[in-house]
Amino acid sequence: MIGIISAMHDELAELLDILQDKKTVVLGNREYHTGNITNQKVVIVFSKWGKVAAAITTTQLISSFKPTKIIFSGVAGAINPTLNIGDIVYGTSLIQHDMDATPLFPKFEIPLLGKSTIETIVDEKLYQCVEEFNNQYYEYVSPEEANEFGIKSPKIIKGIIASGDEFISDNIKQKQLQNDIPDLQCVEMEGAAVAQVCDEYKIPFHIIRIISDKADHSAHIDFPAFTKQIASKYAKGILENYCS
Ligand code: ADE
Repeated sequence: MIGIISAMHDELAELLDILQDKKTVVLGNREYHTGNITNQKVVIVFSKWGKVAAAITTTQLISSFKPTKIIFSGVAGAINPTLNIGDIVYGTSLIQHDMDATPLFPKFEIPLLGKSTIETIVDEKLYQCVEEFNNQYYEYVSPEEANEFGIKSPKIIKGIIASGDEFISDNIKQKQLQNDIPDLQCVEMEGAAVAQVCDEYKIPFHIIRIISDKADHSAHIDFPAFTKQIASKYAKGILENYCS
């Protein structure tokens, strides 16, 4: 059984539509949807926003459904200035950008875990599905829709993702993150929390983030429409293929 998490229903709505033999269990105020995608058993859940929500959901998912791996799919704001709307970040390590227990521990270090970043092991099949999706992009997203959101030839970048309990929507904070965390690709609000839970429970974890905004003053404008119309198509395109 593979666990699939996103923060919002809109991010996985199209994948949920193709879930077969669906059964829903409510635990801790969240709906866990089990079933099959092609022949792969999955459990899909929306964590809600933020690190605490994500950690609650992941812990419950692991203890109740015993997944062999967990995949997170969702949207993120770009920190790397070369990233554009619609690009995909395949997360290779996760950091909590709002973790700061100085002077007791170095900035960003998770106290008593002894590290500030959690590395992921690249799942070659998942990465290949991301590439296949991108190579056949216009079979999944129409040219009109891509145009509506200013998406041009999306690219894939492997790299570091930062999470914190803050929606980043100003240039100063955006630049500060760029300076504080070398090679940071994008920012969101859940991934590093899911990564920490998976690290502590020793469950393989993978994460894909689709760039919905540039974490600047206009970050919120297209966010709801992008999530519903575009991000959901990425998740279905990539994960349906992954489960086949
Ligand atoms: N998720 C998508 N865009 C984001 C942003 N700008 N800040 C935090 N989380 C996000």
